[in-house]
Amino acid sequence: MKTKICIIGIGYVGLPIFLNLSKTFKVTGYDINKNRIDKLNKFVDVYKEFKKNEIKIFKKTGSKLTTDKSEIKKCNFFIVAVPTPIFKNKKPDLRILSKSCELIGKVLKKDDIVFFESTVYPGITNNLCRKILENTSKLKSSKDFFLGYSPERINPGDQKKKLNSINKIVAFNNKDPKRVRLVKSIFKKVSKKIAFTSNLESAETAKVIENIQRDLNIGLFNEIFKFCEKANINFNEVIELASTKWNFIKYKPGLVGGHCLPVDPYYLSHISKKYNLKMEILLAGRKVNDQMESYIYKKIINELKKNRLSLKSKLLIFGESYKPNVGDQRNSIAQKIILKILKINKKIKVFDPTIDNKFFYKKYRIDKINVKDRFHAIIQLVNHDDGKREIQKYLKFNKRTVFIKLF
Ligand SMILES: NC(=O)c1ccc[n+]([C@@H]2O[C@H](COP(=O)([O-])OP(=O)(O)OC[C@H]3O[C@@H](n4cnc5c(N)ncnc54)[C@H](O)[C@@H]3O)[C@@H](O)[C@H]2O)c1
Repeated sequence: MKTKICIIGIGYVGLPIFLNLSKTFKVTGYDINKNRIDKLNKFVDVYKEFKKNEIKIFKKTGSKLTTDKSEIKKCNFFIVAVPTPIFKNKKPDLRILSKSCELIGKVLKKDDIVFFESTVYPGITNNLCRKILENTSKLKSSKDFFLGYSPERINPGDQKKKLNSINKIVAFNNKDPKRVRLVKSIFKKVSKKIAFTSNLESAETAKVIENIQRDLNIGLFNEIFKFCEKANINFNEVIELASTKWNFIKYKPGLVGGHCLPVDPYYLSHISKKYNLKMEILLAGRKVNDQMESYIYKKIINELKKNRLSLKSKLLIFGESYKPNVGDQRNSIAQKIILKILKINKKIKVFDPTIDNKFFYKKYRIDKINVKDRFHAIIQLVNHDDGKREIQKYLKFNKRTVFIKLF
């Protein structure tokens, strides 16, 4: 039977998978967000990750982007890329993932394959997802339908590491060589290199620890950065010197946000409790990285003070998203700091060329910097490549404007 692929969730992760696969297959991309699908059908990615001509290609294979549930009925290979956030109390919020399983369960047929890309904790695919799929479809996993897990590693905003150049973990626990071949052939269209395993839990754990490791390391560097500032030691020089040792690993301090790093450590921490295991350092990065919000906010006030300015001065802020070169505002510390400053000064302006004001307009955001506008200071919260030149040009024409760099 012909493989008919369906991607559930066409966001930061789902869209690149959809676009890569639709070069070869006739793929159905399903999302509940009508606005997102309407824009993509006009070849507009409001997240600015893909250009018009990169999106257009899906039409060539007759692939489809839709909000119509009935379209997924005819599919037999499902890839789920929906959000897996946390609740306010930091517990995993698996409601969206569960809903997607119900949706698939209703249309699941004999021999269908369901893959999950969303970040989870070990056991979710084979317990939660499997049970919902079995209950709604009345079919049996590993007999009637088959489960897989292939975590996503894309790094939005990274122009060098695009989806097909990133090694992809593919976990599939069915031994049937024909099915394994089919799975491999599909994921080979997503990524050139595949790390294959038959163990779903290993793959789930591998994904979550990749992000925990990164969160912890940035946390460590944030702490060292704070120490150097207090002790009046040149942080950059310290890191350059330390980096001359062969096994020193260099990280940058910064504002950690987005859908992954501030979330994923809580997933593993949640499941570790099931084993009565108190993990001592797993969440240490979380604590330090979250504290950067108040640290940087205070640093801004101090830097302004040093220049006889205050939060009430005429201020332009550069960068609002969670990291350089990405317009994603989820869990953005820069945005939290901006909202804090806005409580004191409603007249500040924020310049972030990665955020499309056509779709995400806010009164304080500007699209362009006019060199004739008067700002006492420019505060760089996120250093995007786009916009750097405008800032430099402004500073060239406005020599008295103070430029505040926080890292
Ligand atoms: N963003 C990243 O850089 C990144 C990297 C690796 C892994 N991940 C993981 O991938 C998963 C998806 O993240 P994302 O950043 O793509 O999220 P996203 O919010 O950008 O995209 C998710 C999409 O799913 C849609 N959706 C929500 N509920 C749905 C439903 N019931 N049915 C169909 N569609 C639904 C949303 O409308 C949205 O468009 C998460 O588990 C995340 O942790 C993200």
